[in-house]
Amino acid sequence: MAQRQLKLGANLNGVGNSISFWRHPDVPINASVSLAFYTGQARKAEEGKFDLLFIADGLFINEKSNPHFLNRFEPLTLLSALAASTGHIGLVATLSTSYSEPFTVARQFASLDHLSGGRAGWNVVTSPLEGSALNFGKGRHPDHALRYEIAEEHLAVVQGLWDSWEDGAFVGDKASGVFFDPAKLHALNHNGTHFAVQGPLNVARSKQGYPVVFQAGSSDSGKALAAKSADAIYTAHETFAEAQAFYADVKARAAAYGRNPDELLIFPGIGPIVGRTEEEAERKYREIAELVAIDQALNYLGRYFEHFDFSRFPLDEPFPDIGDLGSNSFRSTTDKIKREAKEQGLTLRQAALRASTPRSGFIGTPEKVADLIQQWFEGGAADGFNVRTVVPNGLADFVDLVVPILQERGLFRKEYESDTLRGNLGLPVPRNRYASEAIETI
Ligand SMILES: Cc1cc2nc3c(=O)[nH]c(=O)nc-3n(C[C@H](O)[C@H](O)[C@H](O)COP(=O)(O)O)c2cc1C
Repeated sequence: MAQRQLKLGANLNGVGNSISFWRHPDVPINASVSLAFYTGQARKAEEGKFDLLFIADGLFINEKSNPHFLNRFEPLTLLSALAASTGHIGLVATLSTSYSEPFTVARQFASLDHLSGGRAGWNVVTSPLEGSALNFGKGRHPDHALRYEIAEEHLAVVQGLWDSWEDGAFVGDKASGVFFDPAKLHALNHNGTHFAVQGPLNVARSKQGYPVVFQAGSSDSGKALAAKSADAIYTAHETFAEAQAFYADVKARAAAYGRNPDELLIFPGIGPIVGRTEEEAERKYREIAELVAIDQALNYLGRYFEHFDFSRFPLDEPFPDIGDLGSNSFRSTTDKIKREAKEQGLTLRQAALRASTPRSGFIGTPEKVADLIQQWFEGGAADGFNVRTVVPNGLADFVDLVVPILQERGLFRKEYESDTLRGNLGLPVPRNRYASEAIETI
């Protein structure tokens, strides 16, 4: 049997996830809104045979938000441009089910799927930030449970719309004047709790059937949604043991829904810092960490907790007791911050600095980083990784120094297997719900 293959995503984020990244001399100040910057990153990831580009997103900012969040591209628009300058890599855009209409979403992703020849993916999120409601004329941000209820129905409607046209529906017979076969056109006629959508969708399926569906959200509700309806889940774990437990849990949930657990891929996010020596890697981390001012770190931490103002607490005393705060926002993340602060006796300063400039465990020489990736991949903690850039040239370092080791060990491809995202991820093309078995097996 062929060796199971690792999957890799490149999480591109302009002037960076961390608050101080933009201040480094090697980071272009306009990176978050520079097509040239993103094109360069996309080409580097494709040179490294990455499966996909991944673009995160948010719907609310204020003056305390991260620099990258203040002025950045909308993901689908950006990926439509990158579709033209790349040939094999998948294009995964984040879009919220709490603030969008399924018909528009189905149409946008199906369009990107055609534009890119079957390389589109959707990262389903429910929008953690309360303020998002203010930008969409909604009185109140739906609470955590309701957001997931909406997400489940929204995703089901989108997937239903993607089946509007069976393969081969557009016969285009010029002689007889038959453009399409009406027997292969289907209206969804959905009338649910949160959405009423008749359909059909005005765009057909691409050659990968549906865009690949990612889900980002690691609470119980997030895991349940992914286990039921997603192809992949994007998550975040600091330790191997934590990642293993999450992996086992999500795979078991997929099996409980009657699915093949191998068809739900788990992608922890990592921010590798690679140096030719251990010292070089540590120096790269320090160069970023030392640029962080503590007031910015407190803002960064506060954003997870509904923009809570942590500056009212003493910096060098134990992390304050803030009760339930955060549970209606980034729940899985805020639970983790509170739990670790308590278990490890962190002060507010330590917790803020740790959140704002996390020191990745994946730091060191290329061999050390490759060893860790192999350990997680073979040890039941990951099917792939979403690789974030946390130091300047982080993606290039990873592609030039770590990917060749993974390839040498037979863990990662040397050439793309397919020209669709599904094909490269080893995921099957979903059956059109209206197609008869007889047609499908031809
Ligand atoms: C690893 C990870 C990445 C996420 N990325 C995004 C994102 O790009 N945009 C967004 O609006 N929410 C993002 N979220 C938030 C979730 O989609 C969700 O709205 C929120 O975290 C609450 O869900 P949870 O408690 O299930 O994690 C992310 C969550 C996780 C855990």
